[in-house]
Amino acid sequence: MNEKKSRPIGVFDSGLGGLTVVKMLLQRLPHENIIYFGDTARVPYGDRSKQTIIQYAKDDIDFLLTHDVKAICIACNTADSMAKAEMEQRYRIPIIGVVEPAAKMAAATSQNRKIGVIGTKATIKSGAYAAVIAREAPDAEVISVPCPLLCPLVEEGRFLPGDAVVESVLRDYLAPIKAAGADTLILGCTHYPLLYDVIETLLPGVTLISSGFASAETLIRTLDSLDLRNPSTDPGTIRFFVSDAPERFAENGGMFIGRQITGEVNRA
Ligand code: DGL
Repeated sequence: MNEKKSRPIGVFDSGLGGLTVVKMLLQRLPHENIIYFGDTARVPYGDRSKQTIIQYAKDDIDFLLTHDVKAICIACNTADSMAKAEMEQRYRIPIIGVVEPAAKMAAATSQNRKIGVIGTKATIKSGAYAAVIAREAPDAEVISVPCPLLCPLVEEGRFLPGDAVVESVLRDYLAPIKAAGADTLILGCTHYPLLYDVIETLLPGVTLISSGFASAETLIRTLDSLDLRNPSTDPGTIRFFVSDAPERFAENGGMFIGRQITGEVNRA
């Protein structure tokens, strides 16, 4: 039975962004083993059609299943919002996403019932955040803004306060959220936690909700309810797989996960 519990958790994203979710998992579930897959050959997912994103999510999960994972964490808002329902129908393994946990947290947090959501074009187009918030807080107004320029900027390391380019792009994207007076903003893309400090300076007093935190809490509850927590007291292991350019992933991943990427990054 312990063998079953010590199997890894499979985590995937289109590339580096999901590492911000892994950062939270390492903090909250330090004894779990993790297999991470970044689909770096096909990033970005955010500009693609629903049909393509569903196919990619299926490929990503099929790869993780070859590593005998016990649960899947979709650490990509785009894949979660476009493909989760299909994946839940297709697979019997527990699948935890990022959208529902963050949307629920926002609905529970907002006092003035005005909630901003930023994400990729596909995530915003899916309406997934607005749908969960409408269910959880029917009186809330949701201001959703697609932000296609943010992922490339973050991947290029342009995310620090004082960077005129990222500040100017963000000022433009955040204007409708500021104008509406939202008191809560969902960072609906796993790349965006790196923009936390800049967004905080542009929207002082607004509560920022990242995907990873709420998702880690949901994963804990799911593992507990299925009695699947790893009983080991040793630090968990983490193995990285990518579909392209392992060196680039190893080099840039550190800023997403908050520590150097040590160990091998394998080509899937
Ligand atoms: N990190 C992905 C997300 O959370 C976005 C990156 C992409 O467009 O592939 O939506």
